[in-house]
Amino acid sequence: MCGIVGYVGSKNAKEKIISGLKSLEYRGYDSAGIAIPINGSVDVRKCVGGIDNLEKIIDDINYDGAVGIGHTRWATHGAPSVINAHPHINASGDIAVVHNGIIENYTEIKEWLVDSYGIEFKSETDTEVIAHLIGVYYDGDLHEAVNRAVKKMRGAYAIAAIAANEPDKIVAVRKDAPLVAGLGKGFNFVASDIPAVLKYVREIYLIENNETLVITKDDVKIFDKDGKTVKRDVFHVTWDVDAAEKGGYEHFMIKEIHEQPDGIKDTLNKRVDKDGNIMLDDIKLTAEDVAGFNRVYIVACGTAYHAGLIGKYTIEKFAGIPVEVDVASEFRYRDPFVDDKTLFIAISQSGETLDTLAALREAKSKGARILSVVNVVGSSVARESDDVFYTWAGPEISVASTKAYTTQLACMYLLSLYIGKLNGHISDNYYNEIIDALRDIPEKVQEILDRKSVVEKLANTFYKKEKIFFVGRGTDTVASKEGSLKLKEISYINSFAIAAGELKHGTIALIDEETLLFALATQDRLFEKMVSNVEEIKARGARVIAIAKEGNEQIAEKSDEVIFIPQAIDEVMPLLAIVPLQLFAYYVSKNRGCNVDKPKNLAKSVTVE
Ligand code: M6R
Repeated sequence: MCGIVGYVGSKNAKEKIISGLKSLEYRGYDSAGIAIPINGSVDVRKCVGGIDNLEKIIDDINYDGAVGIGHTRWATHGAPSVINAHPHINASGDIAVVHNGIIENYTEIKEWLVDSYGIEFKSETDTEVIAHLIGVYYDGDLHEAVNRAVKKMRGAYAIAAIAANEPDKIVAVRKDAPLVAGLGKGFNFVASDIPAVLKYVREIYLIENNETLVITKDDVKIFDKDGKTVKRDVFHVTWDVDAAEKGGYEHFMIKEIHEQPDGIKDTLNKRVDKDGNIMLDDIKLTAEDVAGFNRVYIVACGTAYHAGLIGKYTIEKFAGIPVEVDVASEFRYRDPFVDDKTLFIAISQSGETLDTLAALREAKSKGARILSVVNVVGSSVARESDDVFYTWAGPEISVASTKAYTTQLACMYLLSLYIGKLNGHISDNYYNEIIDALRDIPEKVQEILDRKSVVEKLANTFYKKEKIFFVGRGTDTVASKEGSLKLKEISYINSFAIAAGELKHGTIALIDEETLLFALATQDRLFEKMVSNVEEIKARGARVIAIAKEGNEQIAEKSDEVIFIPQAIDEVMPLLAIVPLQLFAYYVSKNRGCNVDKPKNLAKSVTVE
């Protein structure tokens, strides 16, 4: 992952780069650095930690210029350290490079550089080979040297390079890692993502794979892999930079949890007319296409994978097509049965998750129809899909995904109903019942948020527990998995989730007096069985918090605590059941003094395999 920012203008490069890097910290934040050509050499400053630390080591007045590159890192090759932080420089120290991605053949290149040029490496990173490669090819033309270096490299990368002898330009390249150019008047940017430049520009070039950029203050030239000039349409960003800031909340996570009613409402209202018809403008599926599908694959990672698991329930139920759901990192290594009768659905908030992108490409190469559910407009997953269903959740900054998840769920409901209508599987009455239930969801999510103090009190009571487990049946199993993921990723508490019926086949051995267990019981048809499961768990001494629909008092008698959530039909409960679990994870993390928005070892956008 990692974030890169480059600026070319007339002055204040330092300020612009720092501002951009701050907006990219969601891509990684274990170390950071900046390089600016000053007085005929490249001055590089690096530190461990986030951009706040970087600011402290560049605050001297002599450190600034018209051009520069910066980086925020999430370690892959080599531990987070000053030496391993980017930018990396060549042997003579006059070329600096920042990089996002992985150079797969870096060992081979390194050996070649050592044997042929006697180069001494300082860091453990793969990136350092890029700086040296450009260095050995450089004879006054940075663009040419970068082109030659790229020909030797395999892997996924976005790179930005500067040279002391050409202090008026940045050369950048993209291959399988995101890159955009921001277009100003008398200045230009290059960056990993749009928020990095939004404070200064709204006109963007979305860069494609294997394209090289030469950026000067008055021009951004794009070249394809054969060196031909590419003409690119300008993409105008309409969303506001304020949308990416905290807006009075203590953390991005709690802000984003509170944005869910609006996010779900936007996703639904803009696609469903007053008569309940679903209009999906970016999806060109016809009844004939749908009749030709014999299976659906849903592939994603982490939270998006959980949205896929709910998608299995909804597509099978509303559209009657068999669905397989896979984590993206597994999918492409197991020879899946994908062909031109397959509908392949990729779900991704960022649209840049490398495993998801690679799975998508694998399915595409086998002839599948590719439909993606994506939040970031113009992201790689979106661009490589036949059809795109945007979640329109707005920028999600907190590493722990919340509003992206519930809007992904909303999309899966609409998509399943849409396909069910196209193939005639769903009856009109049932279709209308689901649409009506979905329309009420934003208000019901708001009700849960209005009563968040109930969840906060429970978190204040139980935050010191070291074992917190989650069980449920049917779609509650999925909500359990997502609740458990939220808790472990931001609180570092040992947690798992399991289908309640499976508990007694082994895992119940872990339950004792020290355990706190969430029992999700929001499915009416499985309610009695969940009540029995709660009795089994209580008999082993665990403390139980149940999540149940209002009015289901029976479970209150059996458990220690209950969080009641509004009544709705079973089918749409996944949109409600997850909300108290998101809140619980948030308040526990806060109580434990963890870094809520930037948990350790994680990054928002995982663009490495
Ligand atoms: O951007 P994506 O939706 O493709 O990201 C997938 C996962 O990395 C992501 O959902 C991750 O699991 C979240 N941190 C969970 O909160």
